[in-house]
Amino acid sequence: MKILIIGGAGYIGSHVSRLFLDQGYDITVYDNLSSGCRENLFKEGEFIEGDILDYPFLLETMGKGFDALVHLAALKAAGESMTAPEKYSVNNICGTINILNAAVNSDIRRFIFSSSAAVYGEPDYLPIDENHPTRPENYYGFTKLEIERLLSWYDTLKGLKYASLRYFNAAGYDVDGRIRGMERNPANLLPVIMEVAAGKREKLKVFGNDFPTKDGTGVRDYIHVTDLASAHMKAFEYIQNTGESITVNLGSGEGLSVMEILETARSITGKPIPAEITGRRSGDPAELVASAQKARELLSWTAEFSDVETLVSSSWKIYSY
Ligand code: UD1
Repeated sequence: MKILIIGGAGYIGSHVSRLFLDQGYDITVYDNLSSGCRENLFKEGEFIEGDILDYPFLLETMGKGFDALVHLAALKAAGESMTAPEKYSVNNICGTINILNAAVNSDIRRFIFSSSAAVYGEPDYLPIDENHPTRPENYYGFTKLEIERLLSWYDTLKGLKYASLRYFNAAGYDVDGRIRGMERNPANLLPVIMEVAAGKREKLKVFGNDFPTKDGTGVRDYIHVTDLASAHMKAFEYIQNTGESITVNLGSGEGLSVMEILETARSITGKPIPAEITGRRSGDPAELVASAQKARELLSWTAEFSDVETLVSSSWKIYSY
């Protein structure tokens, strides 16, 4: 089986690539290396340096013949999307339209898409299931929702079968330490904590401790990237076996607070990890936790590596290096 992994040199894409290779798939990574890095590429896979805004080159690449594609190439900083929406329109929406058009013109009819829990916005109830209303509160989430709508139309009009995977909070690293590329200027909680532990940052700013949560700090559903990767494989198998498209949450179903992660990190790293409580970050909901039932039932998928110890220890393996 030949799989094209667009954005395969990035943080999540490299874990997806690794797993597909481990399972014996023939993979080609297509990436412009704007946030991904060469360190995340594997010698068993092919690499093509290219941009999703370059339609002729995408078409030429897809002409080599693939059984499916995984699309993870996107800008993803929710805060930046509110101040620079133009970039998000072009990269995320126009880029995906290019991929969709090149795919259907190259007879690729199986499409695995990296969506986000950001499509839901502030939750009406917890855990959040896939029937929860979609009211994104940042432009990034809007771009993901628009792409889901495009996918649905291409299914109806062109017979494209897709899996739209709504990731909750991706975290952790390959437990065998085979992926070593670190994100540049991370804003997410776990890499920030790791940078403080490694002495690259002075302290963690805890964005609020007065939320109505178990300890007052923000609660999220952290899902290990290797668990995300295995869901991509199961989603591909699902589309192939059933001929149906699917939209599904990818979360562990468990909420962890900022303080729980911080305390675990202090204990695993043995570092003090200074932290200061600051004001809330604008737009941060108190708690986001997924219902993982649909993925469990339809994909037979459950999170295996998403306990707090594995999330932290697999990250520390990389950041302590
Ligand atoms: C993340 C992504 C968002 C994605 C969403 C999916 C970023 C910045 N955010 O959101 O794009 O759509 O998952 O659910 O890429 N925190 C601190 N201090 C820090 C950083 C974070 O206290 O320095 C807290 C936050 O307030 C929050 C939790 O840690 O309670 C997680 O934050 P973060 O890792 O940024 O992820 P989300 O904002 O949940």
